[in-house]
Amino acid sequence: MTRLSAVTPSGHAQLGNYLGAIRRWACEGAPDDLYFVSDMHAMTTAYNPQRLRALSREMLAILIGSGIKPESVFVQSDIAAQLSTLSWVLECTCTFGEVARMIQFKEKSAGAKTVRLGLLTYPVLMASDILLPGADEVPVGDDQAQHVELARALARRFNTTYGEAFVVPQAVTPKVAARIRDLADPDRKMAKSTRNETGVVFVLEDADMIRRKFQRAVTDTAGRVEYRPDEQPGVANLLEILSACTGQSPKTAAEGIGSYRELKETVADAVIEELRDVRKRTQDLLADPAELDRIRATGAERAAQRGEHRLSSVLRLAGIA
Ligand code: TYM
Repeated sequence: MTRLSAVTPSGHAQLGNYLGAIRRWACEGAPDDLYFVSDMHAMTTAYNPQRLRALSREMLAILIGSGIKPESVFVQSDIAAQLSTLSWVLECTCTFGEVARMIQFKEKSAGAKTVRLGLLTYPVLMASDILLPGADEVPVGDDQAQHVELARALARRFNTTYGEAFVVPQAVTPKVAARIRDLADPDRKMAKSTRNETGVVFVLEDADMIRRKFQRAVTDTAGRVEYRPDEQPGVANLLEILSACTGQSPKTAAEGIGSYRELKETVADAVIEELRDVRKRTQDLLADPAELDRIRATGAERAAQRGEHRLSSVLRLAGIA
């Protein structure tokens, strides 16, 4: 069984990426799994090329620093030729309506003066990412489940129209930490690209800054440490973060905590502890560029091999090779 997932270097990795995704990938790791840095997905809105290159490298180091086996990681653009080819085939299997109704597209394009075509077609590239190596399971947070649904639909459609080529993948979302919220605005999910960084905890941030962000986290006036997501979203978010770090349920995590101040300190301690080794291992790796280059090159080779066979049969079935 192959699990596959990715993180886009559109900013620095944040706590939601880590608790909702990266950490699980590391725990469940099997030899055939593939986890990658989806740098081509970071081009769908305005970006700076030098910054993208640096963020991709940092993200690759974070994946390994988080405990994912170096044999399982790669950078998406290292197999750009295969993915772009498959993407064209899948774009011609997909309808305009299917991509136009993606929630993320609607959110990101709303009110924008210009919208890059890649922002619309990006879920098709993501389908290529998933279908090329034949992933069975795709562990993602809630926000990506709709994109995996599209990949399933395209796989089925291609298989019935042109012939069996693709494994129909399944999204797997976590029970806890599927949607970590912004500490300063619990109505929004925590995101790398949020302008106001006071509510976003970054994986490589130092302990003092992490503590300060938790101390300033928005709560409410109820004054009770209880897990009630609808009535107390800020407090519930802190309890979910704590629960993801300790392994208890959010309800159990609330027991014995008397005040919001105590809750914030407890969560800050747990997060700092959780990220300590990840940060250290990532920084060590970033300080050894030759080792990181070596891992990247080996990953690229392995990823290319994994997709080769399927891509040629897809092209043959589609009548173009
Ligand atoms: P990205 O970079 O937005 O997010 C990476 C992973 O982190 C999860 N995540 C969260 N989980 C909980 N709480 C949050 N606040 C939070 N924010 C993000 C996401 O659900 C995701 O699992 N398009 C994808 C990357 C991608 C991909 C793929 C994933 C490219 N190709 C193929 C799976 C399979 C993305 O931009 O994720």
